[in-house]
Amino acid sequence: MSPLTRSVLVTGSNRGIGLELVRQLAEMTDPPEHIFAMCRNPNGPQGKSLRDLAAKHPNIHVVQLEVVDQSSVKAAVSVVESHLKSKGLNLLINNAGVNSYATLQTVEQQEMLSVFNTNVVGPILVVQGFLPLLKRAAKETATEGMSCAKAAIINLTTKLASIQRGFEVTESPLYPYRASKAALNMVTACLALELKGDGILCTVIHPGWVKTDMGTEKAPLTVQCSVEGILKVLANLSSSSTGAFLDWEGNSLPW
Ligand SMILES: NC(=O)c1ccc[n+]([C@@H]2O[C@H](COP(=O)([O-])OP(=O)(O)OC[C@H]3O[C@@H](n4cnc5c(N)ncnc54)[C@H](OP(=O)(O)O)[C@@H]3O)[C@@H](O)[C@H]2O)c1
Repeated sequence: MSPLTRSVLVTGSNRGIGLELVRQLAEMTDPPEHIFAMCRNPNGPQGKSLRDLAAKHPNIHVVQLEVVDQSSVKAAVSVVESHLKSKGLNLLINNAGVNSYATLQTVEQQEMLSVFNTNVVGPILVVQGFLPLLKRAAKETATEGMSCAKAAIINLTTKLASIQRGFEVTESPLYPYRASKAALNMVTACLALELKGDGILCTVIHPGWVKTDMGTEKAPLTVQCSVEGILKVLANLSSSSTGAFLDWEGNSLPW
């Protein structure tokens, strides 16, 4: 089997789905040459599991990244560039995100803005910063069409952000979270249109309801199972998947 990709970057990779993505990528039979595991506090206690994992895999590079801080993004781009030498970055996974349980009655302006900042503005800043490296990867890869092996941006979303499905889910208004992920979906649609000519595939993926700090113990899906599914989906993405809204099993979801 051909490798999924040569280089991959995962934001928010110190716990939850991000940490498991890095673990499973590193443990592949044909792993990426470079796995950039981004974490906003790599030297603190929050970064311990990631540091322990990186100690076992020399292809994992732990890099500081606070997605809503432009100077952090700029510094991270320099670090990634120094590892890639003159090569491009093939796969960017915008996984970092925050939830909020605010309701119509309780939501405050600051919470709305803060969740939008992390879930929408953050991924845009990260894409802006790494776009030259993604474009470089697309240009230097000789294969026709689009794939994660060539150049791709994957944004982690939720099916709760589907407007059509939203009318069926009445018990979780989650105003800041669902609205921010719906906005991230539109950002991804815009990216897919704009970057098609550059050969960069852009897709949103719903990981399922997963047992993590965000998903809670009530979630039916283990993080291992969700990430196994996501990686299979990534391996099968092609030109026809750009601009798609998929779940961890590869099913299409309505916008
Ligand atoms: N779990 C689910 O059921 C589920 C369902 C649908 C979608 N998702 C999506 O899947 C993604 C991962 O979710 P998860 O369940 O793994 O969440 P999680 O366990 O809460 O982990 C979130 C990760 O994002 C990082 N992060 C948050 N804000 C950040 C910022 N400003 N800059 C950099 N990193 C930041 C966190 O870092 P710190 O440790 O520093 O806070 C942590 O590594 C999210 O985008 C989420 O919306 C999850």
